[in-house]
Amino acid sequence: MTQKQRKISKLVTSEQLLEGGGFPVRRPFPTPEMSDVDPFLLFDHLGPVDWGPGEGIGAPDHPHRGFEAVTYLLAGEMNHKDSAGNSGVLRPGDVQWMTAGSGVVHSELPSPDFMKNGGTMHGFQIWVNLPASAKMNPPRYQDIAAANIPIAHSNDKKTSVRVIAGEAMGLSAVIDTFIPITYLHYTLLPGAKHTQSLPVTANAFVYVINGSVEIGPDHEMVSEGQMAQLGSGDLVTMQVNESTNDKCDLIILAGEPINEPIARYGPFVMNTEAEIKQAIRDYQEGKMGAILSE
Ligand code: CO
Repeated sequence: MTQKQRKISKLVTSEQLLEGGGFPVRRPFPTPEMSDVDPFLLFDHLGPVDWGPGEGIGAPDHPHRGFEAVTYLLAGEMNHKDSAGNSGVLRPGDVQWMTAGSGVVHSELPSPDFMKNGGTMHGFQIWVNLPASAKMNPPRYQDIAAANIPIAHSNDKKTSVRVIAGEAMGLSAVIDTFIPITYLHYTLLPGAKHTQSLPVTANAFVYVINGSVEIGPDHEMVSEGQMAQLGSGDLVTMQVNESTNDKCDLIILAGEPINEPIARYGPFVMNTEAEIKQAIRDYQEGKMGAILSE
């Protein structure tokens, strides 16, 4: 089998914006510069932002239909609650893989402890599309505590990876995804050099959280807040300069394209405008439920 290193086909710097009630977000896609990201719909790097006591901001009750919302927290503490009766607390390193399917109403808010004490909030929310055949499936939650996310280290200890979805360094993720998804958090120390295999049919991306990394055979540099879309191939090579003082954290994201039409309106992602109108009607008529207060 021939092995081909993926090169960067497009490199963008994230847009900066305020989301929800005023939460600072870096968003590499969707933007006019990067919109062909099938099967992904959105990539939000939340913070890092320091809130004082009482200042924390989240997203109160809102609906979703037709895709999956994946939250990965690096710092802070979030409470979530939904109309299907699920609730939980997200702490650093935890992942919540929420399949909205036919529809949920949920809230994503800083925990009461966080609100009281303040602190740093830092994380990611990524939206993964669902194929038409699964958009009206029942909602599903997978809450994975940090301790249950596989972590692998290279022999030279310069590279480590948290396997949120897919496979890396011989470890498989515990999260079950609807279409094949790779979601890896790599930490590379100065001098680290590593190769990750990726399905040749997948659309693949590298997002740098902090530091800088050289990607591919041409050693193209990707730095903090930048998203690189990768071209064809079945491998991606990553390298951090020996002479730098900074480690690099990055996310590798890859998924099989769904190749279906997308109709999108706010929190609903369907295939046709008629299905969007139906989603809005169903939400307004309360068919996606409501969050029951305790
Ligand atoms: Co949401």
